[in-house]
Amino acid sequence: MLTPTITSLLIFLIAHLLVAVSGSDTYSRDDFPQGFVFGAGSSAYQVEGAADQDGRTPSVWDTFAHAGHAHGANGDIACDGYHKYKEDVRLMVDTGLEAYRFSISWSRLIPNGRGPVNPKGLQYYNNLINELISHGIQPHVTLYHFDLPQTLEDEYQGWLSRKIVKDFTDYANVCFKEFGDRVLHWTTVNEPNVLVLGGYDLGFFPPGRCSSSAFGLNCSRGNSSTEPYLAAHNILLAHASVARLYKNKYLEKQQGFIGLNIYTFGVIPLTNKTEDKVAAQRVRDFFIGWFVDPLMYGDYPTSIKKNAGSRIPAFTNLESEWVKGAFDFLAVNYYSTLYVKDKSSSVKREDRDVIADMGVEIIGSRDNTSTFEFPVSAWGLQEVLEYFKQVYGNPPLYIHENGQLTPRNSSLEDWPRVKYLNECIGRLHDAIRNGSNTRGYFIWSFIDAFELNYGYDSSFGLYYVDRDDPELSRQPKLSALWYSHFLKREGIISNGVMEQDKYLSTHSNAKLFKY
Ligand SMILES: *[C@@H]1O[C@H](CO)[C@@H](O)[C@H](O)[C@H]1NC(C)=O
Ligand SMILES: *[C@@H]1O[C@H](CO)[C@@H](O)[C@H](O)[C@H]1NC(C)=O
Ligand SMILES: *[C@@H]1O[C@H](CO)[C@@H](O)[C@H](O)[C@H]1NC(C)=O
Ligand SMILES: *[C@@H]1O[C@H](CO)[C@@H](O)[C@H](O)[C@H]1NC(C)=O
Ligand SMILES: *[C@@H]1O[C@H](CO)[C@@H](O)[C@H](O)[C@H]1NC(C)=O
Ligand SMILES: *[C@@H]1O[C@H](CO)[C@@H](O)[C@H](O)[C@H]1NC(C)=O
Repeated sequence: MLTPTITSLLIFLIAHLLVAVSGSDTYSRDDFPQGFVFGAGSSAYQVEGAADQDGRTPSVWDTFAHAGHAHGANGDIACDGYHKYKEDVRLMVDTGLEAYRFSISWSRLIPNGRGPVNPKGLQYYNNLINELISHGIQPHVTLYHFDLPQTLEDEYQGWLSRKIVKDFTDYANVCFKEFGDRVLHWTTVNEPNVLVLGGYDLGFFPPGRCSSSAFGLNCSRGNSSTEPYLAAHNILLAHASVARLYKNKYLEKQQGFIGLNIYTFGVIPLTNKTEDKVAAQRVRDFFIGWFVDPLMYGDYPTSIKKNAGSRIPAFTNLESEWVKGAFDFLAVNYYSTLYVKDKSSSVKREDRDVIADMGVEIIGSRDNTSTFEFPVSAWGLQEVLEYFKQVYGNPPLYIHENGQLTPRNSSLEDWPRVKYLNECIGRLHDAIRNGSNTRGYFIWSFIDAFELNYGYDSSFGLYYVDRDDPELSRQPKLSALWYSHFLKREGIISNGVMEQDKYLSTHSNAKLFKY
């Protein structure tokens, strides 16, 4: 499968790894704690395809993509993972993955959103899980990755209604009952913070509701001042209900773990002025605290309650009790850092949305040298891990997403991705050495998927998917080989040094493996 170019680059790469392991800030697979897992991930709508096959019904993502909101692309076929799962697990084995994170399509398993289970959907997830387990790959399953059954959106506006709590709990019950004998790691909702901001404040994610979008979208329905807070509240109650169900009905027998995925940023105040430092803390409150504070303490952060006033639902005593402590681990998705500056003036506006409630100006990143790639901001990952350690008492964490974006059809020699991943794993290693309770690390994504923000224009995969080939063949990128090399502890290669010298003399980014 490897092209000659890739093979020769791999030799350079391995030579570089040898450089890395001889330095001071270096790491290898064996430097991580006992039980730590390295994996990669995907989500149902982004890889499965087979959107209308074997009884699956549309999710809000199908509807949104078909309305042209995803770069004109959709997940009808995606990577055809529904039919190619065996091949993909084979690639995981080749790569040396220890764990694989994927999500279940609710509308494939329960096409009406509630009620009868679709036997073909059940069969598919059983097959996938069995294939993983039989190859020693640990499944990490996300119940909800932005893909609400459209039928529940139509019936009662999905997350805006309290009715979602029961339907989500019943869906989770089916998953625990059918798959929980083999799946030990569950997260309920992926990135609820992105879901409520994208879906109900800014409108760039389904269901695309907003009343005043900073993105200039057509906000014909929704209310950016109130709906994000309402949806978030219902998500927390649904999460807590599912965690409670697991604890009461399945924990004793299955001995698994429940978590929630949070989208995180490294946050840096633009200046050392007190108001910018306070603004940076507000950003952490709104991105992390909005969901993690209720799980830790049973209530929202003070800054959010203050700025959102009566627009944020208050927890009743009973709700607060349910939500508090309703997790075994937290999952962190990390990509980049933000510079922020105080903009308290926005909190005075009458019609303000969540972003205005935050009272900050987000400057982006200082080191953004490319419009495509995230700036290499691996230290932001370390900062986030430290934040959970210092502020929340060091709960068990999984990094469930981390990765680098490149134009999808750019070179298989994806140096920017290798550089990014290498630096992030290095920072993770530093954080663990400094006491972080992180238990696993998953690259987003295993293969080039339908990307929710980029369609098929840009992607994160370790494997390229050739969309011009009717077979949708997969090819390893350099990053897949690099990761594999790391995971399999393959450190030695002959004549590497010579090749390395040649490489160093012709490439500018020669410090690739020093972070
Ligand atoms: C925006 O929404 C209005 C009202 O629903 C509709 O008439 C119009 O066609 C929409 N415009 C676009 C560009 O979608
Ligand atoms: C949003 O809801 C609030 C509270 O019901 C209301 O005061 C406000 O006018 C609504 N905003 C929009 C844009 O509909
Ligand atoms: C803020 O203060 C720290 C410590 O004194 C300093 O290292 C940093 O450069 C300052 N940042 C800015 C933006 O001035
Ligand atoms: C980041 O990149 C954008 C687009 O190229 C540019 O407009 C912006 O000024 C950059 N931000 C910083 C802080 O350099
Ligand atoms: C390491 O942990 C200590 C104690 O929590 C903390 O004070 C320090 O800032 C951490 N170091 C880094 C580099 O994050
Ligand atoms: C890659 O895709 C972009 C659009 O996504 C297109 O403009 C470009 O020509 C393509 N390049 C190659 C080498 O196919």
